[in-house]
Amino acid sequence: MFLRVEKISKEYTSGIFRLRRHKVLEEVTFTLEQGETLGLVGESGCGKSTLARTILGLTPPSSGRVFFRGQEVFSAGGRLKKEFCGRMQIVFQHPESALNPRMKVWDSLLEPLRLKKTSPFKEEQINRCSTLLRRVGLGEEYLCRYPHELSGGQIQRIVLARVLSLQPELLIADEPTSQLDVSVQAQVLRILKDIQMENNIGLLFISHDLDVVGWVSDRIAVMLKGQIIEHAPAGLIGREPLHPYTRLLLRSYSMSDSKKTSRAVQGRSMGPDLGVLEKACVYFADCPRARQECRQKPRLMEVNDGHYVACWQAIPLG
Ligand SMILES: Nc1ncnc2c1ncn2[C@@H]1O[C@H](COP(=O)(O)OP(=O)(O)OP(=O)(O)O)[C@@H](O)[C@H]1O
Ligand SMILES: [Mg+2]
Repeated sequence: MFLRVEKISKEYTSGIFRLRRHKVLEEVTFTLEQGETLGLVGESGCGKSTLARTILGLTPPSSGRVFFRGQEVFSAGGRLKKEFCGRMQIVFQHPESALNPRMKVWDSLLEPLRLKKTSPFKEEQINRCSTLLRRVGLGEEYLCRYPHELSGGQIQRIVLARVLSLQPELLIADEPTSQLDVSVQAQVLRILKDIQMENNIGLLFISHDLDVVGWVSDRIAVMLKGQIIEHAPAGLIGREPLHPYTRLLLRSYSMSDSKKTSRAVQGRSMGPDLGVLEKACVYFADCPRARQECRQKPRLMEVNDGHYVACWQAIPLG
């Protein structure tokens, strides 16, 4: 198995005198094949970035395990951990923080090659950087620029060129285009998708935008307050959403852009705080179809081929 995320839970504690537990992820489980794209969609604060950091071994889970090519990520030490760092890469939400502001594009592109201890001759270095830039649709003239001399879209392309030079097997893209205009967003997504397909990279694509996730992904997992509540092939989620929260998300996407997000979360208690309803379905307080049985949390169950849902009313009886 390429990537297996097994019952990952994460709790943070906060407060000085009275420690308060804050559950951010609850038993998140999924797999990813090499070359496949899994889209992870969910509202702000539902735990997407925490999950990304846990998969990469940057944040320890409270419980659960992550396996990359059969090796457990968090317990890996020394050389293996270093090897994982190269084979798994992340592209972050805020492009401006991804590049060193004191380094020219050229140095940022060469840095991974230096880390890999492959330092070709100067001419070869220039050729290599130019090829990388061309691949992401930028000319040689950008090599000598600093990040503040670039637009958000150009920075995100350079970040992708850097990723390309590292040749990762797994890429986590954490809202890579959420800070960009719609037209630039489309170009960057096209480049990301091409790079992924050409290099057979396993991609975990994180976003709160169901439209974007639908375009990029083979499968989609919908997350709500730290839990995956529906998981299916991308087309199926669009055609036959089973969870009332997924339906609400999709309905909000058929509205005008400005209303999208606000409608999707309207009247809902934000954040992953499970509070007194710890044992109930995660959507219990906001679900228009909530019934008595929903006071008991449903498990994620396969209802059709590859279509999983955690909702009592979508699960066939018997
Ligand atoms: N180091 C931390 N300590 C305490 N709480 C944290 C920490 N990191 C994240 N959180 C909390 O965990 C929750 C999930 O945060 P996370 O960044 O994973 O959400 P997200 O789904 O990526 O949101 P967004 O779409 O806005 O990026 C938030 O309530 C956040 O405040
Ligand atoms: Mg995030």
